[in-house]
Amino acid sequence: MGNAIRIYVPRDAAAVAAGADAVAHRIDAEARHRNQPVRIIRNGSRGLLWLEPMVEIDTAAGRIAYGPVVPEDVPGLFEAGWLEGGAHALCHGPTDDIPYLRRQERLTFARVGIIDPLDLDDYAAHGGWLGLRNALEMRAEDIVECVTASGLRGRGGAAFPTGIKWKTVLTSPADRKYIVCNADEGDSGTFSDRMLMEGDPCALIEGMAIAALAVGATQGYIYVRSEYPHAIAILKHAIARAQAAGWLGADIQGSNRHFDLEVRSGAGAYICGEETSLLESLEGKRGVIRPKPPLPAIQGLFGKPTVVNNVISLATVPAILARGAAWYRDFGVGRSHGTLPFQLAGNIRCGGLVEKAFGLTLRELLEDFGGGSASGRPLRAVQVGGPLGAYLPESQWDVPLDYEAYQKISAMIGHGGIVAFDDTVDMARMAHYAMEFCAVESCGKCTPCRIGSTRGMEVIEKIAAGGPQREAQVHLLRDLCDTMIGGSLCALGGMTPFPVMSALEHFPEDFGLEPSRAACAA
Ligand SMILES: Cc1cc2nc3c(=O)[nH]c(=O)nc-3n(C[C@H](O)[C@H](O)[C@H](O)COP(=O)(O)O)c2cc1C
Ligand code: SF4
Repeated sequence: MGNAIRIYVPRDAAAVAAGADAVAHRIDAEARHRNQPVRIIRNGSRGLLWLEPMVEIDTAAGRIAYGPVVPEDVPGLFEAGWLEGGAHALCHGPTDDIPYLRRQERLTFARVGIIDPLDLDDYAAHGGWLGLRNALEMRAEDIVECVTASGLRGRGGAAFPTGIKWKTVLTSPADRKYIVCNADEGDSGTFSDRMLMEGDPCALIEGMAIAALAVGATQGYIYVRSEYPHAIAILKHAIARAQAAGWLGADIQGSNRHFDLEVRSGAGAYICGEETSLLESLEGKRGVIRPKPPLPAIQGLFGKPTVVNNVISLATVPAILARGAAWYRDFGVGRSHGTLPFQLAGNIRCGGLVEKAFGLTLRELLEDFGGGSASGRPLRAVQVGGPLGAYLPESQWDVPLDYEAYQKISAMIGHGGIVAFDDTVDMARMAHYAMEFCAVESCGKCTPCRIGSTRGMEVIEKIAAGGPQREAQVHLLRDLCDTMIGGSLCALGGMTPFPVMSALEHFPEDFGLEPSRAACAA
């Protein structure tokens, strides 16, 4: 098979859901039938989801993309000479020249969709293990300092500086410390963690090993949401291979340093993504919030100092250790350094993953990348940052995507999930849904969230029903939201008011209110 032409068919769950396995089988069968030696590589997705399954042929002129391919297209693609990059209605030319990809800054996702996720040689050939090699030569304090200086902030939602968290764990004396990767990825419209784990699992493994060296941990866990069976399977394979190759285990690359890593399947609740609930769940208990303090960095898993970081935070670390803190810090704006893999979802024509430096606008993402709505109707509202994020009207789409700028408009970037709605959306229904989501997912530990979310649904129903009490109910809703913000133990109850209030503020007509009246009631 030495001169076999390489054909890339993604094994990513989004591509598989769109029929990639059947396409791979058909390509294999057709190639055999034609006596044409080919090597099918199951890569990750490039993140152009509307083109999945997107097949790439490795030609003399580079990788050429075809998509979306269905099995019935395969004979015609062979006839059209796709193995030499031949013209066809499904051909998009060189993959790297597709504007959606060319305009991105892929630092964390540099290898995703390019390499075979389970081929460690392919990983090494694309810069893998360089960061860990460097870390093995460094003092723990210097690794922490490098991550701090890079300006990396947590990509799971709260944007807390990663280096500062690591420093707390490093300086907390204990006989045992842990690295926990939060791969629960529960936010609506998000899939970057999944794509990274399925497309470049070794980047996460390497990032966790570096974190372990930085804080003195010997055991790590990846807590993956149970709805991600493909990611779980790929991670388990990748860990076994990394272990066999000496990148994990008792004596990493002969350094006498020890780090073991295991995968755990999540318990299937949104609240298990919150770090203290996640730790409870990892300990085998029901996922309920632990009050903070103590911080998990001081008393985390089994009471020991624990780093809890999101997949993207950890998978970004190897590139920082390989290329230096200054290199990463130079991307972005203000205090938002580096890049974020934004995820375009909802009613959008070209949904997918867009990794860009902070500072671009929502409008650029929606229009230049997303191509507007899938329905062809005007876009009206966009929820950024998951189910606890605000709904942004068009007047806010030019605010730069920067943590602080978003905070100023009572919005949040969070994990970078972007869900678009066209002008048929009923924002009173969306506000009601936010409260309903909170009621269903509440862990029940505190009253403002457990009871408040159900009362919130009732009040929104009364507002939408109209009548003379409407304005009094709007006051009541604002009061309730204030109580939830101020009195909830965690961000589920504490931030549910943001989508609710943004809907009321920016789309009062959907609640049967005059715009000026909603402002008066404020
Ligand atoms: C209700 C709730 C759900 C959360 N879900 C997730 C999640 O699915 N994934 C994640 O990484 N962080 C989630 N977080 C944030 C975590 O609590 C925590 O801040 C994060 O894992 C820390 O990692 P980072 O610093 O790398 O972002 C959630 C927080 C809350 C309040
Ligand atoms: S805010 Fe909700 S989810 Fe958070 S601790 Fe209170 S009841 Fe539990």
